[in-house]
Amino acid sequence: MAEITTPLDRNLALELVRVTEAAALAASRWMGKGKKNEADGAAVEAMRRAFDTVAINGTVVIGEGEMDEAPMLFIGEKVGCGGPAMDIAVDPLEGTTLTAKGGPNAMAVLALAEHGNFLHAPDIYMQKIAVGPGLPLGVVHLDASPAENLRNLAKAKGCEISDLVACILDRDRHAELIARTREAGARIMLISDGDVFGAIAAAMPESGVDIYLGSGGAPEGVLSAAALRCMGGQQQGRLLYEDDAQIARAREMGVADPHHVYSAEEMAKGNVMFAATGVTGGPMMRGVRRFGHGAVTHSIVMRSKSGTVRHIEAHHNFATKTWTPT
Ligand code: FBP
Repeated sequence: MAEITTPLDRNLALELVRVTEAAALAASRWMGKGKKNEADGAAVEAMRRAFDTVAINGTVVIGEGEMDEAPMLFIGEKVGCGGPAMDIAVDPLEGTTLTAKGGPNAMAVLALAEHGNFLHAPDIYMQKIAVGPGLPLGVVHLDASPAENLRNLAKAKGCEISDLVACILDRDRHAELIARTREAGARIMLISDGDVFGAIAAAMPESGVDIYLGSGGAPEGVLSAAALRCMGGQQQGRLLYEDDAQIARAREMGVADPHHVYSAEEMAKGNVMFAATGVTGGPMMRGVRRFGHGAVTHSIVMRSKSGTVRHIEAHHNFATKTWTPT
């Protein structure tokens, strides 16, 4: 099995950034235009094309859906121009509504692992909890109450619960979670969308977020788990089902125990790489800034093996690019 360890693989990490840059550049054309599907479609197409020059034998395991639902980047699609066998998790545009409205934290994102190392998460909800690095393992747990988790987190961080900020998706389904988090004394950053950012924010001191709580997309959960593996944070996730058909689907995709609480290490095993480029700006990355004949992008690329978090600002000159962003 190929290992992500050689100098070549370091280069691969940078190749992956080109892929998220291409998707972000394409999506950024649609920023604030109220057309989330068009923004998503542009990102998917650009990401798919950019994969053609990446030296891997890639298989999409988290993608845009099943083959019959998605023309590109569908689950099982092969990408790359040949090389080591790798599994790929992609979200060409995480935050389609954010992009359509010009809201914060939309990004193009992907993660890569050796074959067989990602949880094959169906497109259903996942209950999630995430905290940053440097904390005792298991300091928070999905089965604990918000008050208990916040108390343990505050103790581990040497602060008061009132110093903590929890990031939660602003959804009706989270009404009780929000109430109980406030009752416990923590402050809350409600986000309208984009919980890949939400979970990663818990591991970024500059975000002001200490903990991510709540349910969001399961595929997004695998992507943030890959990032947290690289950053040394902790994340847990449990698949949430609306009906028996979803349980059957999860089993079909290889989920042995449908109610298992997955750690980040179980969702994204072994050596993983993570790359993201900001479409719209926020505490994690700046968004695409366009000017005549070019644009500036801000990306983050990280590898679990080294734990290095690399910020890349790229100045793109459309006049000399071999491809033209849409
Ligand atoms: P899209 O980019 O597909 O629109 O997803 C945005 C998002 O907010 C994710 O970050 C999150 O995991 C999911 O949607 C939450 O789903 P819902 O909007 O159904 O609560």
